[in-house]
Amino acid sequence: MITLADCRALDAADPLAALRAAFVPGTPGTLYFDGNSIGAMPAGAPARMAQALEVEWAVQRRRAWHLADWLDAPQRIGAAMAPLLGAPPEDVIAADNTTLNLHKLLAYGLQLAASEPDSERRRFIVYEPEGFPTDAHVVQGVVRHSGGRWAERRIHSPDELAGALRDDVAMVMLAHVDYRSSWRWPMAATTAAAHAVGSRVLWDCSHSAGAVPVPLADSRTDFAVACSYKYLSAGPGAPALAYIRRDLQNRDWPALPGWLGHADRMNFRGEYEPAAGPLSLITGTMPVLQNAVMECAARVWAGVAPAALHARHRSLSTTLATLMDEQCASLGVRLLSPADYAHRGGHLAFACPGGGPTCEALLESGVVTSFRQPDVIRFGLAPATVAHVELWEAVQRLKAILSEERWRAPRFQEVSV
Ligand SMILES: Cc1ncc(COP(=O)(O)O)c(C=O)c1O
Repeated sequence: MITLADCRALDAADPLAALRAAFVPGTPGTLYFDGNSIGAMPAGAPARMAQALEVEWAVQRRRAWHLADWLDAPQRIGAAMAPLLGAPPEDVIAADNTTLNLHKLLAYGLQLAASEPDSERRRFIVYEPEGFPTDAHVVQGVVRHSGGRWAERRIHSPDELAGALRDDVAMVMLAHVDYRSSWRWPMAATTAAAHAVGSRVLWDCSHSAGAVPVPLADSRTDFAVACSYKYLSAGPGAPALAYIRRDLQNRDWPALPGWLGHADRMNFRGEYEPAAGPLSLITGTMPVLQNAVMECAARVWAGVAPAALHARHRSLSTTLATLMDEQCASLGVRLLSPADYAHRGGHLAFACPGGGPTCEALLESGVVTSFRQPDVIRFGLAPATVAHVELWEAVQRLKAILSEERWRAPRFQEVSV
């Protein structure tokens, strides 16, 4: 049995304990498990935003492009966050949102496939239609606008991937971690299987980046995107991270050419020529204010060893799974995420009696989680900010709600979380 003393001991021995102070704690007494949605705010963000508004915009105006180096923020941020993606610094950039980057990289990968000797045969994009909606919509949109050139091949469970991988596949696009169950694909083995049939792979790492290892370089992943406002704490609406493996860069134009992704961007040339590397993924003017706060997060991550962060996540995830099993299984709570940590992403999903109303009752008791139909409660485990004692406390509060059937109260029946 895991005790409160065990949780305290785990926190006391934590080499990353000081990292919590790099983030704003939020409402006192509230336990946040929604880092899988919006991560904690870096402590330096308010001052940095004030400076961006009051000095750079109000006073420096256009000159701030140079004085505050607004222009190169996408590369600086990408480089600082790249270690958390297991990627070389030059191969990652912060741009647009996850959806747009998925579009750009899927289209780029297809363009490469279309220009290769066996291109006639390669028509299919393998993906999960029941995955996160935006991933599915990107594939469906690209197919729809391709004039019949590309076609979908759907898989409905990981077991179906092997059968879908044939020599007519041009691209495989998958979410590294499922947003509901937290199932994590084995990135290296899956990428290797796709490569074996001559396909390339685009990973959406939104629910893994900043929580669990994302071995982009080691797995020889071709393309990847990661949402930054979840575990990476870059701020609501922050740009996403985009990665292109080095040897796949500079082979063709990006799918959305724009003036700031031009090789000679300040000389206003009419003929497009892509900038080198992932810089060509920049389309037009970047979100300067958003980048200012995103860079606060980037500075925090630049000082964190990824292995230490991942070890902490592993400890949190295994502790919560065990605590729930020991204390709430008899009340009907069941782990829906994989039992094997190697197959789990950033959050843990539990089937929980009461579902949405239980999630509401947790919220009233100061425990912030998220609900997914029909009865799934997700605990996002942001490794930089969640403590083991908070897991203990959250499980006690859930236990009380379930054993007293408090979730049945009428005020919890309208679900907001
Ligand atoms: C798997 C996945 N991809 C992408 C996104 C978000 O995409 P965007 O940044 O375009 O809103 C989310 C958001 O929750 C997600 O869970």
